[in-house]
Amino acid sequence: MRFTKALLTAALSFGMATAAQAQSDEIKIGFVLPMSGPHAEYGLQILNGAKLYMQHHGDTVAGKKITYVVRDDTGVAPEISKRAAQELVNREGAQILAGFGLTPSAFAVAPLSAQGKIPMIVMNAATSSVTTRSPYIVRASMTLPQNSAPMATWALRNGIKNVYTVVADYGPGHDAEKQFIKTFTEGGGKIVGEVRTPVQNPDFAPYLQRVKDAKPDAIFMFVPSGAQGASFLKSYAERGLSKEGIRLIATGDLTDEHVLDSMGDEALGLITAFHYSDVHDSDLNRKYTQDYAKAYPGVRPNFMSMGGYDGMHVIYEALKKTNGDPSGEKFIEAAKGLSWESPRGPMSIDPETRDVVQNIYIREVKRVDGRLANVEFDVIENFKDPGKAEK
Ligand code: PHB
Repeated sequence: MRFTKALLTAALSFGMATAAQAQSDEIKIGFVLPMSGPHAEYGLQILNGAKLYMQHHGDTVAGKKITYVVRDDTGVAPEISKRAAQELVNREGAQILAGFGLTPSAFAVAPLSAQGKIPMIVMNAATSSVTTRSPYIVRASMTLPQNSAPMATWALRNGIKNVYTVVADYGPGHDAEKQFIKTFTEGGGKIVGEVRTPVQNPDFAPYLQRVKDAKPDAIFMFVPSGAQGASFLKSYAERGLSKEGIRLIATGDLTDEHVLDSMGDEALGLITAFHYSDVHDSDLNRKYTQDYAKAYPGVRPNFMSMGGYDGMHVIYEALKKTNGDPSGEKFIEAAKGLSWESPRGPMSIDPETRDVVQNIYIREVKRVDGRLANVEFDVIENFKDPGKAEK
């Protein structure tokens, strides 16, 4: 009896020692990302950016080896995202959660981060309120109000007086609509119509007919980046809205580099506001795009890849400051106020909101070296998410 008890104690302490050992020299990141389904390119781009960061900076931070595991959440599927995160933490032993292509995925996992005090690094999901759902969330991507306010200001200054808004009917679309309308009407602009389109498989034609009948100076639109934007642009051209002189302005999700090549000349002249363009004029970005092309031939880097890249920067720099301790309180304190030069430009993490502060650029689609590109021509520097003021 005594002998058995002693053995059991020894076995237990041995088990605990090995578990602690594994944790002390390794930090595991659990990625929750859409790797399949209609938004599969989000997962691809975010992971490409994150892996390129590791290629540039090595896989050891503060003496710990950085490893990662990826779980596919298939897109807008909150239950799958939640289960994926639970498995990453409970089964895989992930100490940090990262990724989150879409807002519903970030909303679904935030309670787990809050309850378990697990750092959660948002690399895309861009609804303003995401960061308020857990004190352990930090965002390295953007918010929709952050890009929509500068677009409204540009419209006011460029003779656009009446706007019809068209947005996807979920978090980021609601945020884009609200902020655009606020900034535009406060500056004297008029909203002549508002419509929200389904998040999955929308047919834009009937909505665009309504817009055409209302004859606004411009449409302001947001749909999640990818095939939807391309199909919106096609309907806009086919219905003859551009011929009627109805302009199209948007956040840069529309002219995302992942689909820009497929849009053709219809995209020429489009004006958008956004935080990243793959032709951003800086040495860091030239190196980024060149190394990206080498690592992932045939894939063009977009803002999501940049979210993955800078999200890894947050993880590496916070861990350096905590001397390799990934526990929630310490990690988040270390992440607050980080500031650095990214390939997208200067950026920092607002210590109050844990959200990203960055330059927002106004861009026009032009041909550069034979290729469609978002050419920046104006900048709003160090711009904070204006959506937070409302909350
Ligand atoms: C989001 O779901 O938060 C989201 C998705 C795609 C975008 C922007 C935001 O282009």
